[in-house]
Amino acid sequence: MCGIVGYIGNKEAYPILIKGLHRLEYRGYDSAGVALTDKNGKLSIYKAKGRVADLEEFCKDKNISGNIGIAHTRWATHGEPSNQNAHPHYSESESIALIHNGIIENYAVLKEQLIRNGYHFQSSTDTEVMVQLIEYVKTLNKVDLCTAVQLALNEIIGAYAIAVVEKDNPDQIIVARKSSPLVLGIGEDEYFIASDASPIIEYTNRVIYLEDEEIAVVSRHEPPRIITIKNVEKTHEIIQLEMNLSQLEKGGYPHFMLKEIFEQPQTLRDCMRGRIDVSCQHVVLSGIIDHRERFVNARRIIILACGTSWHAGLVGKYLFETFCRIPVDVEYSSEFRYRNPVIYKDDIIIAISQSGETADTLAAVELARQAGAFVYGICNVVGSSIARNTHSGSYTHVGPEIGVASTKAFTAQLVVLSMMSLCIARALKTVDDAHFFRLLQELNRIPDKIEKILKLNDAIKNLSKIFTYAHNFIYLGRGFNYPVALEGALKLKEISYIHAEGYPAAEMKHGPIALIDSEMPVVAIATDNGMYEKVISNIQEIKARNGRVIAVVSENDTVVKSIADYVIEIPATEDCFDPLLTTIPLQLLSYHIAVNKKRDVDMPRNLAKSVTVE
Ligand code: AGP
Ligand code: GLU
Repeated sequence: MCGIVGYIGNKEAYPILIKGLHRLEYRGYDSAGVALTDKNGKLSIYKAKGRVADLEEFCKDKNISGNIGIAHTRWATHGEPSNQNAHPHYSESESIALIHNGIIENYAVLKEQLIRNGYHFQSSTDTEVMVQLIEYVKTLNKVDLCTAVQLALNEIIGAYAIAVVEKDNPDQIIVARKSSPLVLGIGEDEYFIASDASPIIEYTNRVIYLEDEEIAVVSRHEPPRIITIKNVEKTHEIIQLEMNLSQLEKGGYPHFMLKEIFEQPQTLRDCMRGRIDVSCQHVVLSGIIDHRERFVNARRIIILACGTSWHAGLVGKYLFETFCRIPVDVEYSSEFRYRNPVIYKDDIIIAISQSGETADTLAAVELARQAGAFVYGICNVVGSSIARNTHSGSYTHVGPEIGVASTKAFTAQLVVLSMMSLCIARALKTVDDAHFFRLLQELNRIPDKIEKILKLNDAIKNLSKIFTYAHNFIYLGRGFNYPVALEGALKLKEISYIHAEGYPAAEMKHGPIALIDSEMPVVAIATDNGMYEKVISNIQEIKARNGRVIAVVSENDTVVKSIADYVIEIPATEDCFDPLLTTIPLQLLSYHIAVNKKRDVDMPRNLAKSVTVE
């Protein structure tokens, strides 16, 4: 995820671009850059690692004149955050500059071909291949920039929103999109381009949303011309935005948390993109493949994390033990680091952290490294401390998570752990081919199933009203859903301030059952999986003591429906992927209860997004 801004008109472009980058900075902030064409047709690129403020500092003494330009704030997917990898990227002759949001899946093949044709690459991004390809196609076919972009995009596999400018052509910006957003703002004799409307809204509320595989030629003195990459002319209605800036920053959602819950189908697709092939035959995690022997010969896996990431780690234990038959310990980083733990050189340590900055996890990683273990990171924030201090790893690629309560990062951690366990199981031959393919296909279907669950939002909102004033909650789950019960309880605690406990359902009778009375809501995860019958017995035990049961069940369930007070029906899946689905209604339930209680959902009291102290 990254932010794209562009401007063409009569004003100075640079201040508009910088302001736009600040608005989009939540989308990515590891480096930023700008390309400007001055009135003499000179094309200049300035870029800097770090925040937009670092770019501004860098540009202080530069020629920033010109009334056409494009700018980018990056969220690295390919290549570390650095000056060189920052966008815009030049073509070989430095006559074309391009910014990109997305991932080019076939970049390696294209890069090889271009190198054979004499092209030189300055960065390790996937993006640079596009600008080089555009120049190559343009020179080869002697066509204009728009046609060259069109021809090049027909060779590209992947996701993109791009903006392209050309030296000696201060009257045109070419933009295109597929799977990454792009908006055109229509002003008076001026046009704007952006990843979302937030940089545009203060200049104009008239916008056009480009659709997949469309290219727009944005020229200085005429309305944008839109064609598809297959050369079909398109006309688009201009939409009048009725939003204010603060809403736009949350994409129209009242809270970042709700936005992030709703983003999950897309973030999980992003997380799997390029890692599971289209035919669902292979899972490719370079972080594992590069260290295959380490994983194949691992004596044990130790997962280190805090909070929600620790819950993901617990699901990881079930996944690795089920599919790889490797013993797994899941440890709180804060306990592990001070316990003088036994660490073997052939242990694999997996550190899970959304922020990549959690102090306890960072220290635990350091301890494991000193003991000679191999450390693998699962982080969301690219270039974060934990990502940098591990030997290998996989990013979750869900974009910035702004709500303090983790939602989309958690489900992506589960997806990465699922892919990891399947990748290692394949190497160990602990899962047969037919089972492996079936699991990959199902994992690929999960985003669609989450989309279906999100349609229950209104029903869950209504349900939440019944329980808003409960003082305590219990969450129960078994097997793969036990960690989901813990996570459901944590979500409710942190944003609504209601006391909640998560338990393995069968543990109830060893103590907490004493708490059950007609006042106590019990959220039971009772989907149709290997533990179904057992969970039904646990629900019966609660009902026998007058507890109020809200059950998450599989579609078409009849048995639990007849016992529980309320049910939330969700699609069925493989046992091992159940947490990816069962967690969604629990996120929504917590969210609505917190809203009903008028809590500060995105910034709950006493919490911080990234816990960089002990
Ligand atoms: C989750 O909702 C939390 N706010 C918190 O428990 C969080 O998961 C924990 O602090 C770990 O953070 P990390 O993933 O950034 O390391
Ligand atoms: N894949 C590109 C890169 O890593 C673009 C990332 C982005 O969307 O910021 O540079």
